[in-house]
Amino acid sequence: MSRTLEQVLADGIRDIPDYPQEGVVFKDITPLLADHTGFGQVVQALAAAGQDDDGSPVVDKVVGIEARGFILAAPVALALGAGFVPVRKKGKLPAATYEESYALEYGEATIEVHQDAFTPGDRVLVIDDVLATGGTVEACLRLIRRCGAEVVGTAVLLELSFLPWREKLASERVTSLLSV
Ligand code: PRP
Repeated sequence: MSRTLEQVLADGIRDIPDYPQEGVVFKDITPLLADHTGFGQVVQALAAAGQDDDGSPVVDKVVGIEARGFILAAPVALALGAGFVPVRKKGKLPAATYEESYALEYGEATIEVHQDAFTPGDRVLVIDDVLATGGTVEACLRLIRRCGAEVVGTAVLLELSFLPWREKLASERVTSLLSV
């Protein structure tokens, strides 16, 4: 018998206390990725954010954010018949890039995308694993718009509802499969 998406997520995401530092509970998705049917259900659920009410794809490109976003975004792109675009941490992409920085708890981080990753007017779905402060996704959306592409929405596996991503992305269309 097939499991509900809620069951798949409950089975596949485990808490790792005190990782990467004391007091933090890390949400580990590796059991979910190892669960073939569960992973497939999650990919279909994320891909729905890039489809209209009839299930037809409405995106040209799917962006994955390094690193865990890549794992989810690539199969979503294939499911939607769309291209895959990596948004990477600074210094990893070989051709000319745009970059955007965002604040971390201490200091800042920078992500990049190839300047020619999109055709102007491309409709884009952004995929990542977790939304916490929302800083990464917010910077990613700036990158996509700098390239002249249109953001259709953002879909994540998991939102940490106790962190303030919602304020940062108040004007954006965001879908999450699970809220903790
Ligand atoms: C993690 C996660 C998201 C981001 C969410 O990335 O994968 O991309 O943080 O946090 P935010 O909403 O506060 O910006 P991280 O770079 O830590 O890890 P990864 O490279 O292992 O995916």
